[in-house]
Amino acid sequence: MRFYLIFATIVSLLFLASCSPAPKDETEKKVDDLLSQMTLDEKIGQMTQICFSEITLNGDKNLDMHPELFRQAILENHVGSFLSGTGPAQKWIDFISTLQKMAVEETRLGIPLLIGIDHIHGANYVDEGTMLPHNITLSCSFDPDVVSRAARVTAIETADLGMSWNFAPVVDLGKNAYWPRLYETFGEDPLVCGILGSSFITTYQDPEHSNPYKLAACAKHFIGYSDPRTGHDRTPAEIPDQILYEHHLPAFVMALESGVKTVMVNSGEVNGIPGHVSEKLLKGLLREKLGFDGVILSDIKDISKVYNEHHGAFSEKDATLRAINAGIDMSMSCNSYLFIDFVKELIAEGKLTESRIDESVKRILRLKFDLGLFDNPYPRNDRLNRMQSDEHLQTAYYLAEQSIVLLKNQENVLPIRDTGQRILVTGFAAHSRKMLNGAWTLEWLGAEEERQPKNMNTLFDALATEFPNSDVSLLEIMPDGTLESEKEYRAAVVASDYVIITLGEEPYSEFKGNINDLQLTEPQKKLAQIAGEYDKKLVFVLIQGRPRLITDIEPLADGILFAGYPGQGGADALAAIISGKANPSGKLSFSYPKHPNHVTPYYHKAFQKNDNLWDFGHGLSYTSFEYKNIEVDLSDDGKQLTLNLDISNSGTIAGKETFLLFFRQEKGTITRPVKKLFHFGKIELQPGETHHLNHVFTPSEIFVYPDENNNQIFEPGSFTIMAHGLEATIDLP
Ligand code: BGC
Repeated sequence: MRFYLIFATIVSLLFLASCSPAPKDETEKKVDDLLSQMTLDEKIGQMTQICFSEITLNGDKNLDMHPELFRQAILENHVGSFLSGTGPAQKWIDFISTLQKMAVEETRLGIPLLIGIDHIHGANYVDEGTMLPHNITLSCSFDPDVVSRAARVTAIETADLGMSWNFAPVVDLGKNAYWPRLYETFGEDPLVCGILGSSFITTYQDPEHSNPYKLAACAKHFIGYSDPRTGHDRTPAEIPDQILYEHHLPAFVMALESGVKTVMVNSGEVNGIPGHVSEKLLKGLLREKLGFDGVILSDIKDISKVYNEHHGAFSEKDATLRAINAGIDMSMSCNSYLFIDFVKELIAEGKLTESRIDESVKRILRLKFDLGLFDNPYPRNDRLNRMQSDEHLQTAYYLAEQSIVLLKNQENVLPIRDTGQRILVTGFAAHSRKMLNGAWTLEWLGAEEERQPKNMNTLFDALATEFPNSDVSLLEIMPDGTLESEKEYRAAVVASDYVIITLGEEPYSEFKGNINDLQLTEPQKKLAQIAGEYDKKLVFVLIQGRPRLITDIEPLADGILFAGYPGQGGADALAAIISGKANPSGKLSFSYPKHPNHVTPYYHKAFQKNDNLWDFGHGLSYTSFEYKNIEVDLSDDGKQLTLNLDISNSGTIAGKETFLLFFRQEKGTITRPVKKLFHFGKIELQPGETHHLNHVFTPSEIFVYPDENNNQIFEPGSFTIMAHGLEATIDLP
């Protein structure tokens, strides 16, 4: 028997609600009133977003205003939104105040501006911002509270500077290990991406943190952007609809359910249609099926790229028409005003109606009203002491500590006791702040060392402080891992008891991080190989945005830690874990492949194998956890399942454990993955303590999957629940 369930989610309820006539609220009245006074030029200006580099001196991102260009942008082109830039807090405040003053006081209708920014790991474009771990690191905490704390710090450090729109979080599925933006994602699991993404959105948009300002988050990049076939950024993805709905969509649905105000579009192409002109995905799926009525923003220059790069339209004007018809409200045009000309021409030619333009302008105005910009357009500088405050720096540390993953710990090489050890710290990131903060830190590609936060330790600094009774020495290596003197390196290894080698990737963004080979580079492997020739305790610290292959050098290491890009508190957190002051509790939010040609997420099909170096969910602790007494009971009416399980700390120190509950549907009309995560959580246990997990859920809501039309299917039959090697099977009628 096969049931089709049409999903009655909150989202569709909202959609239904929007169909029935409701009294117009105050905001709607204001929006309508304002719209009725606007000229066509003013309306199209609201739909246009321009980069700050277009109105600065020399066209750079530093905030030195060009005396003429900003006037032209606001007064002549009626631009309603700007993005991007980098600099000290006070400079941001002055810059944005000047722009808002002009928009509010010198334009006919005084509509304030929406200022957008990519604060994707803290207030990362402000000199005084606290640089938090990137999402791939945070996701290894499997803890929504960790992500919520990151969102809170980011909101507090962003709001006062006048940037009310953050192009975060990325809720793309991080399943393609080659993709150079994997580190911006919350890993490969749809549920983890959804829960962590929603946690970010809920906290970021909660005015309690940014009071008196209100902020908008942006779920990006809708949809299918993260799995291009070549692994290179913005190259075509071929994703069957069924897979798109089953794996890529849930995180976006959860983002919408948590009230995200805006969505950014995928700048790649899916199944031959560039994201920006996909009526099926934007209008059909996002607007109509999911009922999203917030602002849909293009990605950077991406409407013109439909023509120029994808060759998916016959002119830029054609691309503009199709993008607007597909549902885009605002064009992140960045450095061109052509969008404005094209829209005007399209209306004059009768190809586009003004009422369609009105729909988008209404959404944009509504957002501006919702954010309180009309009442409170100006930044403030009386609370700048909140930037990089002690509390925020402690949060930066805490987030890294909760997220770093202990991948290997042979013969308990870690923790290292501080009893007169000779510890050599080396590799590309041993004495660097830049490598720990990664890209999108003051610069798109990560600022040079001198501009990185001063009150931040490098790994060497942190270890030297953490091990006062030992001899911690440093041997710096070139950023690409090349040895300047092999002789010197060998001598340093010989003179040590422990060799801690940082391995991984220098910061990169988007296409700049395209690779053709997932292997860790040869010079870096050589560092490990040379150290491996000696009888020393060898520890690798992986600082990288994706799982670079280390299969051949892994056996040389006694201990391995994955840190991703752990941010400003990353070195201290690593040092605390290495010394045992902190007990590691991160687990991999992605599969760590063994082979370059076999990169498969954990939810593969039965006929596939995934032969990984480490599986999704792998992560060690200095204590041990035991899972026992799994039991599954079906309620008498057959509607609810209760899962009981005991998790005990069977070691000698306190520790945190992430439990991951998977299910397998034994047989399905559409072939089912070997397992799928349906619930997870993190618990703290003292030695000897047991947590009794009692999880009650409705299988006909949880054990469902979409078909190629996104109808949810529940097929009764045999289901197996899995938790840490334990299994329980149940037959559902
Ligand atoms: C990226 C977006 C980002 C935008 C603005 C684009 O290149 O794809 O994620 O928000 O730039 O900086």
